[in-house]
Amino acid sequence: MNTVAQISLNGAHVVVFGGSTGIGLATAVAVKAKGAAVTLVGRTLAKLEAAASEIGGARAVVADISDRKSVEAVFDGMTRVDHLVITAGGLHFGKLADTDPDQLLVAIHERIAGPLYAIKAVLPLMPPTGSIVLTGGQYSDRPSGNGAAVISAAVRGVEALARSLALELKPIRVNVISPGLIETPLFDSFGAEGRAAIFNQATDTLPGGRAGYPDEVAEAIILLLSNGYMNAEVLHIDGGGRFV
Ligand SMILES: NC(=O)c1ccc[n+]([C@@H]2O[C@H](COP(=O)([O-])OP(=O)(O)OC[C@H]3O[C@@H](n4cnc5c(N)ncnc54)[C@H](OP(=O)(O)O)[C@@H]3O)[C@@H](O)[C@H]2O)c1
Repeated sequence: MNTVAQISLNGAHVVVFGGSTGIGLATAVAVKAKGAAVTLVGRTLAKLEAAASEIGGARAVVADISDRKSVEAVFDGMTRVDHLVITAGGLHFGKLADTDPDQLLVAIHERIAGPLYAIKAVLPLMPPTGSIVLTGGQYSDRPSGNGAAVISAAVRGVEALARSLALELKPIRVNVISPGLIETPLFDSFGAEGRAAIFNQATDTLPGGRAGYPDEVAEAIILLLSNGYMNAEVLHIDGGGRFV
């Protein structure tokens, strides 16, 4: 008797918010390799089209996850979504004393409000074997005095949201992927030198002496999607980074 509830991705439809670069793109590549059809969502059409071409074909839809109407429109015309993966989001840091709170709250709009919009819209399209993966981060476990208070609240909130929704939306499974420092375009806004400084520091401090790769996170997302008994889980792919 096979006692592993393996959910096949072959023939499934997977929607990836944030699928144009980094972890989302690596996930799209991985699910496509398993035989799934992929819809990529992001704010920049050119990036989405480049990603779709890189993975050998995907539907590309422009939407900002923090904008409810544009998120709802993503699902127009769809008849079935087997899995929803949300990796969309940027870096929104700032110390409260010198940052407009509305600017800091973008992290909450992207990490909490946006997933709520997307999950509500996708529910009528998702079969009981479906699943949802949200993205957290290590600021959930490791506070910082360097302007990360709101992003910390957001990623901790993502975990709480997923655990409660896993019970509320049963039997649809809801899990969180929590990446550590991963080499993606997320850090390009720091410029070449700033980016290098971040990753050089990682070499010095992380137990494995390096940052992670998007493919390593995507592999874990595949596990969350396809293992039918993984639910309400927060899966850390951080090289142990949350403890140093
Ligand atoms: N890389 C890391 O070290 C790390 C660590 C912990 C957590 N994370 C989180 O993991 C997620 C993926 O990060 P990544 O490293 O893969 O970053 P990335 O390469 O910059 O990818 C982010 C993706 O999300 C899209 N996106 C950003 N803001 C969006 C919005 N408001 N609405 C819709 N799409 C949006 C981006 O495309 P557009 O810009 O064109 O919209 C892109 O497709 C992010 O939430 C990030 O904060 C990353």
